[in-house]
Order: sequence, then C-alpha cells, then structure tokens
Amino acid sequence: MAQISEEIINDIRKRTDIVEVISRYLPLTKKGKNYFGVCPFHDDHSPSMSVSPEKQIFTCFSCGATGNVFTFVSDYEHISFIEAVRLLGSKLGYNLEHSTRIENPHQKDLEIYKLATKFYQNNINTALGKNAVKYLEDRKIDRETMKKFEIGLAIQKVSLTDYLKSKNVSLDKMIELGITNNTGNDTFVNRIIFPLYDLQGNIVAFSGRIYNTKDSSKYLNTKETPLFKKRQLLYNYHRAHEHLRKNDYIIVMEGFMDVIRASTVGINNCVATMGTSFTKEHANLVKKMTDNIILCFDGDEAGEEATTSAIKVLEEINVEPKIIRLEDYKDPDEYIINKGKDAFLNKIANAISVIDFKMQLLRHGKNLKDINDISSFLEETIKELTKTKDDIVVELTLRKMAQEFNISYDTLYQKYQQYNKPKEVNQPRPKTIVQNNDQNKTQYEKAELSLIYYMLKDSEVINIVEKKVGYFPTPTIRYLSNEIIAYYHKYGQINEADFISYISDKEELKQALSNILSLNNRPEFNKEQTNLMEIDDYIISINKYVKDKKIKELEQSLRNESDMRKQLEIINEISKIKGVKLC
Ligand code: CTP
Ligand code: MN
Repeated sequence: MAQISEEIINDIRKRTDIVEVISRYLPLTKKGKNYFGVCPFHDDHSPSMSVSPEKQIFTCFSCGATGNVFTFVSDYEHISFIEAVRLLGSKLGYNLEHSTRIENPHQKDLEIYKLATKFYQNNINTALGKNAVKYLEDRKIDRETMKKFEIGLAIQKVSLTDYLKSKNVSLDKMIELGITNNTGNDTFVNRIIFPLYDLQGNIVAFSGRIYNTKDSSKYLNTKETPLFKKRQLLYNYHRAHEHLRKNDYIIVMEGFMDVIRASTVGINNCVATMGTSFTKEHANLVKKMTDNIILCFDGDEAGEEATTSAIKVLEEINVEPKIIRLEDYKDPDEYIINKGKDAFLNKIANAISVIDFKMQLLRHGKNLKDINDISSFLEETIKELTKTKDDIVVELTLRKMAQEFNISYDTLYQKYQQYNKPKEVNQPRPKTIVQNNDQNKTQYEKAELSLIYYMLKDSEVINIVEKKVGYFPTPTIRYLSNEIIAYYHKYGQINEADFISYISDKEELKQALSNILSLNNRPEFNKEQTNLMEIDDYIISINKYVKDKKIKELEQSLRNESDMRKQLEIINEISKIKGVKLC
C-alpha cells in the first residue's frame, strides 16, 4: 500500500478551508475575526464553538473539543483520521483510496505482539491446552468468544521466547516488550492469556490469568511500555466505538472478563478500566465517544468507592454519568451469568442518577427515624444536589425527600437556594474546562501549558525552550514538547493546524494539546505578539520546580543514608544544584 506522507496531509489541509467544511455540517455566523456555531460534540443550544479562518482550527469553549479540519470531520462522521484525509483529499483530486499513513514507528513491535498472540492461541488447541479450554468452558467462554478476543495460553518457561528467537526477534527486544523477563524466561507461564488492545485495536500487552496453579496474583500484566499505559487504555475501546452512534451509551466496567461476558450476550458497547482506577484520560476518552456514560463497577465496597471517584473525575469535565450497582453480585460477569441478558438490560434501562447513588451512600450508617440523622441526611443531600446542573433532577429529588420525610417542598427548596447561591455568584458562565482546571493548577503546571501554547505560535519560543528548559516535569508535556521540537527540526516551521494532524494517532498527546489550544479562547493569551519576558518567567518557574524537587529528593535520601561517604556525595550534589561552593 502506498503511504500518505505528512506533506500530502498538510497540503490537503492548507488547500481546504475549515470554515467552508464545517459550514457543510452546521450553520456558522461571523463575529469579528471568527465564526461561531453550536458545537456538535456536546449537548448544547448556544453557539459555543468558534472556528478560526486564520488558524484553521476550531475550539469549543464549553466542552473543550478542539482540532483541525480533519479531526472535525473524523469526529463528526465517526471515521478515522486517515479516512477524513482521504475524504477531503478526494475533493481536491487526490486519489488516496489505496494509501495508508506513513508506517507507525512501532509497527515492528506490534508485529511481534501479533506473532506472540498467534503462538499463545495455538497453544490452546494443543493437548497441553485441554485444561485451559475446560476452565474457560466452565466459565461459559465458548470457542467463538475465545477466537473473538484472541484468548490463548502460556505454557512453559521459555517456549514463547524460543519461538520468537526462531523468528529472528532479539532477546533484548523481547525484554523491552515485556514478553521475556530479565533472566531470559517467558514472562507468562501457566496462564490463560488475554491480549490487551490499544485504542486502535492493536495488541500492545497481555494479561495472564492463573487457572491451574495457586499464585498470589490472579492476573499478571505486561509491564508498562511506551505502547502500553494502563491509565490511557480502555479494554475493548476499538470495538465499543464501532457500536456507538451519537445518543447511544457506553458502559464502563472494571474487568475485561466483564466486558467479554457482556459481549457473549450481544452487549458490545462496554469497556474496562482493568482495575478500579478510572483516570482523567479514561474520562476524556469516554466523553469523546458519547455523553451517555454508565458506570458499572463491581458490587463490593471497592467498586462503590471506584464509582464515587469516577464520578468526581467525570464531574471535572462536566459529565454526569448514570450508575448501575450490582448489590448481591460480585461483578457484571457473575450478574449476567446468574440473571441473564434481560435482567442486565433492565439494570441498564434503570441505571440511577448520580444524586440517587450519592443518596444511597449518605443513607449508610444513619437511622432515618432519628431527627438529627434525618436533618444531616437532608442537609448533605441538598449540598450534593447543588452540583447537579439538571433542574428537573433537583426538583424531583426535593419532592421525593419532602414526601419521604413529610417536610414541605418549600422548606427544602429554600435550603437548596441557600447552598446554591454562592456557586452562582462565583462561577461566571460559560463554565469552561480550562477555567475549571486552572484553579487547581500550580504555577509550574500553568507555565508548562503556556510554554507549549507559545511554542506552537512562534518558533522562536521553540528555540528558547530547547536552550533553556532542561526538563518538563509532566511526562505528557515533555512528550508533547519533544514532538514539537522534532516536527520543527524536520519541517523548519510549525503551526497548530498541521501539528494536530501530525499527532492525530497519539491519543495522549491529542488530549493534552486540546487543553492547551483552548487557551486560544482566553483574551490574555490571544495576543498578536509573543512577550519574551513572559516566556522567561515561565521557564524560571519550571526550572525552579525541577530544581526544588530534586533537592527535596536528595534531602530525603540523605536522611535514609547511613554511610558517611555516600552522605558526603549527596551533600555535594545538593550544593551543586543550589549553586553553593563547599570549601
Ligand atoms: N487486575 C489486575 N491485576 C490483578 C487483579 C486485577 O490487573 N492482580 C485487573 C484486571 O485487568 C481485571 C480487573 O483488574 O480485569 C478486575 O479485577 P477482578 O475484579 O479481580 O477480576 P475479574 O474481572 O472478576 O476476573 P475473574 O472473574 O477472572 O476473577
Ligand atoms: Mn469476575
């Protein structure tokens, strides 16, 4: 297949007008330099999306969606980035039907994971795989499901390592990819293997489950690598994505076994966090898929806590999920096996609101016949209610409480207004993601975001950053900065719109960049000229943070160190960083 180069992608972008393309999908009105329209990526009726003909990018100051002409078409039409390039290219006479993007730099590694998967899959069909098949079949995972999720089996200590050696994969590579451990043995032995996928559906890691042995860890995962970062991946994202259309819903579960189970009964719009931690990155991913998110974590207390913290993470980006609690069942897997598909569909249809979930929690440990307990329950619930944006939910909840505790609705409503007031005064509309996050950002984090923002506007800032910033403390920002510098060195220039194309297959960078580009909506950033003094201040603040952190770490190790010579070495190092000369 021929490949579409970055140059062609940029050429198509430059010859396509974003205003004209977006106007084909929704009406835009000109106001000043920019055009405005109703953002199609969140539920809205006011024109919160701005399109800049000058920068050729769009940004929504309500939901934070941002991108260039390709990302708009790809998100709107639910097609991949490269399909959007083909579509817009064809209008300019390019024939890219049979072309693909320049090879992914990790292509070779992906091929190795594929080979490994095939090897594991093959094991399951051999005589040695009998017990594993029996285990899976006892768990009602049939052959078809094993095939769909590419489930396999790891057997002996070095079997996969030997196999890959015969395919000319070096031992170093296998260790780097987490397939083989440092002693040269297979990472996975005697475990049922579940391949883990990235957002595009490439296999980037494995999770191995014990089935015929005792081991303290039920699941063992491939170590984190540049391709596999658990906090950024959702199991089954690539498939669930296909099953979604706007106004559909996505169900977030803890385990991939839960997702696999749901799929066996034809429910395919489920993803798994692979543990109880639902991260900011997960939240942004599901938000991009749909506004209707259902959290269905395990039935135990840990699942309850996971639900509470996931709600918080989603609140940060103005998303209110629905919640399913399984009460007497351990997890969705057991629920579906015991109660069947229809019972689970019923759970989905009756998923409760955040406030109902929180009220359930607030009831715990209270005697709701006792006046003091009733009073604190009502007070706590009303406080929670002020976080809901939906007036109908507020009214219905207050009415329900009025009825249950035989109190007048008006009394409750007055209380609600009391708590709700300060929020309205303090929070100017529209509430944007950037403003939200900003309040919690420390100085160096703000400096990092601002520097990246200016690097994309003015290549002089790239040169300054290269010279003066030793190290960006936040990993994603560091990665972003490296990519900007690499892009600039390769093409000799940079602009926001082309850079968006360049990183379109890197979800982590896309999300970070979208927060940064939202700064465009802020008057203090949207200036004609870059102020180099301001840039210097940002750099000083970052370098100071890095320095202070290093000193703190060294001071800590000094406290733990008993060897005098080593202590001296540490003191020397601290003095060097502080710029103090020891006599
Ligand atoms: N997990 C993990 N390491 C562990 C335990 C769990 O990575 N030691 C992750 C796995 O990705 C798993 C998820 O957390 O899918 C949920 O864990 P758990 O609820 O314990 O597993 P189940 O989904 O119930 O798996 P099974 O039914 O096979 O026991
Ligand atoms: Mn389970």
